[in-house]
Amino acid sequence: MAAPVSTPEILEVNRRYHDVAALDYDSKWGIDFGAVGRAQVLGKVEKLLGRAPGPFPRSLEIGAGTGYFTLNLMQEAVIEASVCTDVSPGMLEALRANAERLGLAVETVVSDAAALPFEDASFDLVLGHAVLHHLPELDRAFAEFLRVLRPGGVLLFAGEPSRNGDRIAALPKRAGLAAAPLWRRAVRARAASNGERDCGHDHSLETMVDVRAFTPAELERLAGAAGFAGVRVRGEELLANMFGWFNRTVEATAVQGDIPLGWFKYAHRGYLLLQRLDTALLEPHLPAAGFYNLLLTARKP
Ligand SMILES: C[S@@+](CC[C@H](N)C(=O)[O-])C[C@H]1O[C@@H](n2cnc3c(N)ncnc32)[C@H](O)[C@@H]1O
Repeated sequence: MAAPVSTPEILEVNRRYHDVAALDYDSKWGIDFGAVGRAQVLGKVEKLLGRAPGPFPRSLEIGAGTGYFTLNLMQEAVIEASVCTDVSPGMLEALRANAERLGLAVETVVSDAAALPFEDASFDLVLGHAVLHHLPELDRAFAEFLRVLRPGGVLLFAGEPSRNGDRIAALPKRAGLAAAPLWRRAVRARAASNGERDCGHDHSLETMVDVRAFTPAELERLAGAAGFAGVRVRGEELLANMFGWFNRTVEATAVQGDIPLGWFKYAHRGYLLLQRLDTALLEPHLPAAGFYNLLLTARKP
């Protein structure tokens, strides 16, 4: 991973990369705001906060992207009012379009997680999904999360890559590349040219936006050092992620329009099934570090 030299450079690269990614983010990552998406997001939050969490009168999402967490949690009445932040104006534009389509009122503010333009103690919940690993100044960001939460307020982050998760993903990616020619023949898809694979994305930036992966202890330390209490970290998804990375890798090698719809249905259903297996069989027994994703919760004293 090529490390950019300075904090402003990491922020700028994240903005540029995610502005472009916003154009097809929801379809690329299967972001859903229907029953499936709502159940997915609620399921993750319940793993940390227990059944029927909230309702939280006012929440702040960090790196909200196109609204996956906040918009689904609003639909589930876990969140009543929300402010969504992101360094990428393009992402927030996509979020506003999604919110409008769903009939939800959300305030959006372009902002870096480490310099939040909000008053002290002004939120009941600070949350984020797949964002901490992009942040160059984690200590400052956690200090900001504590500052803007009211006493007793809840901190919740999900979808952070674990150190082992990076290694776990490397295996199905390698297998996917090896199996891709055979897979394309099986689904009758032509091989994508490099241009088609790029889909307009600047891949030179890809290695620079993911600044780090975490151990459970690192996440605990960050929250504890900032002054949070009741810090808990758990892991999720192993089989589901390996399956997902394999599929995404083979898919990326083909002309997208050639891939039959049936394949995507199979890939989606398989992912959901393995996710249930992970939750029921593996997550209660394996240590957090053994999973692909880490989840963190804590509370402001
Ligand atoms: C992997 S995406 C996740 C988006 C969304 N949370 C989701 O789960 O779909 C990471 C998001 O974090 C945002 N981001 C990156 N660096 C950030 C920073 N320093 N402060 C706030 N947001 C940031 C990106 O622009 C992007 O929208």
